[in-house]
Amino acid sequence: MNAAIYPGSFDPLTLGHLDVIKRASQMFDTLTVSVLDNKAKNALFSVEERVSILRRATEDLQNVTVDSFNGLLIDYAKQKDIHISVRGLRAITDFEYELQIAQTNRKLSNGKLDTVFLTTSLEYAYLSSSSVKEIASFNGDISQCVPDFVVELVYKKFNNIER
Ligand code: PNS
Repeated sequence: MNAAIYPGSFDPLTLGHLDVIKRASQMFDTLTVSVLDNKAKNALFSVEERVSILRRATEDLQNVTVDSFNGLLIDYAKQKDIHISVRGLRAITDFEYELQIAQTNRKLSNGKLDTVFLTTSLEYAYLSSSSVKEIASFNGDISQCVPDFVVELVYKKFNNIER
């Protein structure tokens, strides 16, 4: 079976992430979207909240499951018996970071975990979870950036009234 993992922070899920999820779900038999449980990172949403948001956003995609992990991606992938990691590439600025992670994972796993990159659709190339948080913190409009039901959830975190 052709299975893949899409790992990430998803804090919060953006339309760019969702676009990668939808496209990857058509390329693989199963896609496991997995939220990194990184205690060191000061996240806006808890891991449970992010998992719940992802589940709701992907409920129509039959071959997508949502999970969380901690520790090394290669260990999690081995445990799941998955050999492909999917990542989105927005621009050249992502490339160095992504190349390093992909090569590290391939080396550390003795070639058992490879990475497939999907270039982000142009309409989402500017999007990042960090910019969504910054815009929302100043009560800016994030309706073009995240799924509709996520807009209110993000504003609530910043105690803003939904626009
Ligand atoms: O959405 P993000 O924050 O860019 O995702 C980064 C992620 C989760 C893919 C990456 O940080 C990761 O896989 N972390 C788990 C720890 C690990 O395996 N590190 C080794 C690669 S350098």
